Amino acid sequence: MMQSEAQARHDRLAEEIRRHDHAYYVADKPSITDREYDLLYRELVDLETQYPALRTPESPTQRVGGQPLTEFTPVRHLTPMMSLDNTYSQVEVREFVTRLQKLLPGETLDWLVEPKVDGVAINLVYEKGVLVTGTTRGDGTTGDDVTANLRTIRSLPTRLHSAAQPQPDLVEIRGEVYLPKAAFARLNEERAAAGEELYANPRNTAAGSLKQLDPRQVAKRSLDIVLYGLGEFRGAEPPATHTQSLAWLQAAGFRTPEKVWSVASADDLLAAIDALDQVRHGFRYETDGAVIKLNSTALRARAGVTSKAPRWAMAYKYAPEQAQTRLRDISIQVGRTGVLTPVAELEPVFLAGSTISRTTLHNEDELRRKDIRIGDLVIVEKAGEVIPAIVGVVLARRTGTEREFVFPTVCPECGSRVTRSESLADGEAGVAWRCPNTDCPAQIRGRLEHWCARGAMDIEGGGEVLVRQLVSQGLVRDAADLYTLTLEQLTGLERMGEKSAKNFLAGVAASKSRDLWRLIFGLGILHVGASVAKALGRSFATLDEVFAAKVPELTSVEDIGEVIALSLVQWHGDPRNRQLIERLRKSELNFQSALYQPAAALGPFAGKTFVLTGTLPTLKREEAAARIEARGGKVSGSVSKKTDYVVAGEEAGSKLDKAQKLGVPVIDEAEFLRLCGAS
Ligand code: IVH
Repeated sequence: MMQSEAQARHDRLAEEIRRHDHAYYVADKPSITDREYDLLYRELVDLETQYPALRTPESPTQRVGGQPLTEFTPVRHLTPMMSLDNTYSQVEVREFVTRLQKLLPGETLDWLVEPKVDGVAINLVYEKGVLVTGTTRGDGTTGDDVTANLRTIRSLPTRLHSAAQPQPDLVEIRGEVYLPKAAFARLNEERAAAGEELYANPRNTAAGSLKQLDPRQVAKRSLDIVLYGLGEFRGAEPPATHTQSLAWLQAAGFRTPEKVWSVASADDLLAAIDALDQVRHGFRYETDGAVIKLNSTALRARAGVTSKAPRWAMAYKYAPEQAQTRLRDISIQVGRTGVLTPVAELEPVFLAGSTISRTTLHNEDELRRKDIRIGDLVIVEKAGEVIPAIVGVVLARRTGTEREFVFPTVCPECGSRVTRSESLADGEAGVAWRCPNTDCPAQIRGRLEHWCARGAMDIEGGGEVLVRQLVSQGLVRDAADLYTLTLEQLTGLERMGEKSAKNFLAGVAASKSRDLWRLIFGLGILHVGASVAKALGRSFATLDEVFAAKVPELTSVEDIGEVIALSLVQWHGDPRNRQLIERLRKSELNFQSALYQPAAALGPFAGKTFVLTGTLPTLKREEAAARIEARGGKVSGSVSKKTDYVVAGEEAGSKLDKAQKLGVPVIDEAEFLRLCGAS
């Protein structure tokens, strides 16, 4: 293919992929099957491998994240990014409308009410229709260049669609990057399963992700973006109203706020704010308020700005949903890793869609900081959809009969003296009380429940109730014991019929053939969550290979850092854990990984052996060898019947003769390069 043909094909393919991305990520209406999409994408990748010049930053292949950065470059916004005056008061909303009307006498004021997205403000610059920079808000004048990270967001067009008219020479587009609520919940489930501290809320998690220097890590975070405004607009007439700006943004391929109300009076504004409050919990992002904006661009200009915020807009913030209830007691939960967590036992109270009767108090420090006592009237808050939290105590209602909680010095489950240790999680420094006894029944139960969990070995019936019975009856102490359970033992348990017992045994038997990553995850090794277990499964063929690997080999696996590698090595260093593995092996659990992809199997030369001989016209021997290996092939020093190709140059000697004798294909450098190029 000629370069120009390749370019044309590339443009068409990229355009088609962009269209499908928009349909899938912005319009929520997939236009082709995954397989069809994969084929198009594959073709684009291949084309760019052959013609690397086609691999421009806005190519759809560049969404997986480029090279890590060492720092973010500061970039000045062309027009400042202001903040918004905000209020919690309906009266102030009315006053705001009256003020604007005074400022713009005789004008009919049209308003828009849109969700205030609780994310991270972003400014995008498109020049001649192409995304050139994306920056954080920073101090409003200058932000950080996070373009490489933003490119990983699939719903963000890297080129403006031509349907958006007019097309300015340069445009600034403003919006909010967020972590969808569903993605946040998934992420925290994974962290919980890996014994890691949970993220506090989607907003901070999104902000943290955007500030990652390695875009490949960001690409894994399912960040998304919603756009709601324009800044600089050069070389064309900007939209005359906000309604038109939103329409322009949509035509250009952006996702705009989920729902927008268009109103003309203060009464209607308040009604729209209420209406938004009714539906906002169903949005994919968290919202913490409503933004009221004057519609007309011309009137906005006349209203002007103060030093930090426009006079033509305002944010109405919804009060976080709170309720008061009595703290009946504080109990202690001992987790699978031995951490003692205080749990608030509450008088049941209805809050933001659900009844709450228990909630975590996190740790002793938190209890002391908030001075929470048993018997207190406490304030429970559910900011957004996140886990309810006790935010404080109604001190005025203290009677003096409340009791301070005395943190136990021994484990309430096994009586071991508890130890104070650094929190398990990376990041936030915290201290936790831990039960050091790995034979503690609570830890045993926790590990077993984790092993049986749906995300791990997926053993139906292996929930809290049965696990508790099995452990208290002394039938099971670890995962391996599950595989020697008998029907008699099970039916001997309280409230266990023959049918359920048989079902459970069938589930246990079925779990023997689960893929290796589930087993690794099920072991509950600190920091080894489902995604790490899968990464191990892809890189190692068997469990024995995983545990034979030393730290450097482990850290060479993508997504596995030193902390995880050390944790794996340490776990396997414990003789009891090694015994557990041996007992699982005896019960014939599957130790093979179906995910395993030998590096070689990935390349077009997979399974092919090359022999290099003589001097090639342009390639050094190492260069030729590197090309072979990069494509999954092997380079051998001697010719045999198993050799697939001999690449021969000038003064090739005995190897060439042998190849001819054995009938092994002999190729020259040009032919070799063609083979490399075509694959
Ligand atoms: S308009 C001149 N619209 O709220 C101000 N902002 O508190 C233009 N925000 O920095 C902002 N949702 O990050 C606007 N629908 C929305 C918004 C929104 C969230 C954020 C934005 C801004 C902050 C101000």
